[in-house]
Amino acid sequence: MSTDLSRAPLSGADWFAVEFDPATREVVMLDQRRLPAEVRYHRYRKPDEVVDAIRDMVVRGAPAIGIAAAYALAMVARDETGDGQMFLVANGTAGRILNATRPTAVNLGWAIARMSRRAGKVYELAPELRYQGMLEEAEAIHREDVASCRRMGEIGAADVPDGAVILTHCNAGALATGGYGTALGVIRSAHAQGKNVRVLADETRPYLQGARLTAWELHQDGIPVEVITDSMAGHFFQTGEIGFVVVGSDRIAANSDVANKIGTYSLAVLANQHEVPFTVAAPWSSVDLRTRSGADIPIEERSRDEVARIGGTTVVADGIPCRHPAFDITPARLVDAIYTERGVVRPKIGERPDVLQGEPFGSR
Ligand code: MRU
Repeated sequence: MSTDLSRAPLSGADWFAVEFDPATREVVMLDQRRLPAEVRYHRYRKPDEVVDAIRDMVVRGAPAIGIAAAYALAMVARDETGDGQMFLVANGTAGRILNATRPTAVNLGWAIARMSRRAGKVYELAPELRYQGMLEEAEAIHREDVASCRRMGEIGAADVPDGAVILTHCNAGALATGGYGTALGVIRSAHAQGKNVRVLADETRPYLQGARLTAWELHQDGIPVEVITDSMAGHFFQTGEIGFVVVGSDRIAANSDVANKIGTYSLAVLANQHEVPFTVAAPWSSVDLRTRSGADIPIEERSRDEVARIGGTTVVADGIPCRHPAFDITPARLVDAIYTERGVVRPKIGERPDVLQGEPFGSR
């Protein structure tokens, strides 16, 4: 299943969303549009191809698209052999184009800003050294994301009851991150600790990340998973089967409001109605203290076609409009816990992410 990468993947697994091949200086990505029917990797030589791959959701999930963008900027440095000013202009232009691809996930802008800071430090070096510096930064972003996922996974797993049936939505797994996953990192970690957990994966219309990706990825790891349609969640709360909910996030505002895949808010309402813990796992790079509340988070609108067609089959007649907000906002008052690599925030008791601002990795 693995591809012919010239080194061990930084993800730490034999399948991955995004890697860089230093021998060929190309980005390698698993085409998530084709999963689970086909496991196919593509190699991308040009930064513009990575822009298209993010927009077309070859790669998706907030941390993974940030990492892909960082590698694209390393490729910009690889190609720009002019003077330092030309390099800075090329980096800035590519950063703006990359940042416009998916507006809700703040990890994208976060990674681009971090790469720009590195560009500001290396721009006077010789082109090859500039490239090496930019690649080093992108790889650091990738490695740190995997470490963050593992740490938040351990932190979150402590809250998971033994024997719990866990509901998750969309895909916040290894496929959505540098490796290991955020929400699925919590589940993986609970499973690794010997807790007897079972997962209900919401199919996640319209893009079916739950059915196509989450179920595939948990199955690879031998973690018990069943797929339910989005409309079944209420029933399984009512029967008392669901004991814990964990999801990922694309952006967490300063007041602990959480943006995540469309449908997350409905699950939070259900979880609260049924007194089931509703929790979020996300790296610190998803926390946006400059965004005051969920109302200030831009919601990406995607195409009508993704709603009107499923797997190439038309399910809404031509000419009938569809709505397609790709994300929604879950208010802080519905969120029991936010797990990050820096520690836990408990919004329901009034905690805000800034309590973790000065905390080093995993200290709280
Ligand atoms: O549209 P997608 O598939 O990129 O949406 C992904 C999600 O909503 C994830 O839950 C989120 O990005 C967190 S991924 C660790």
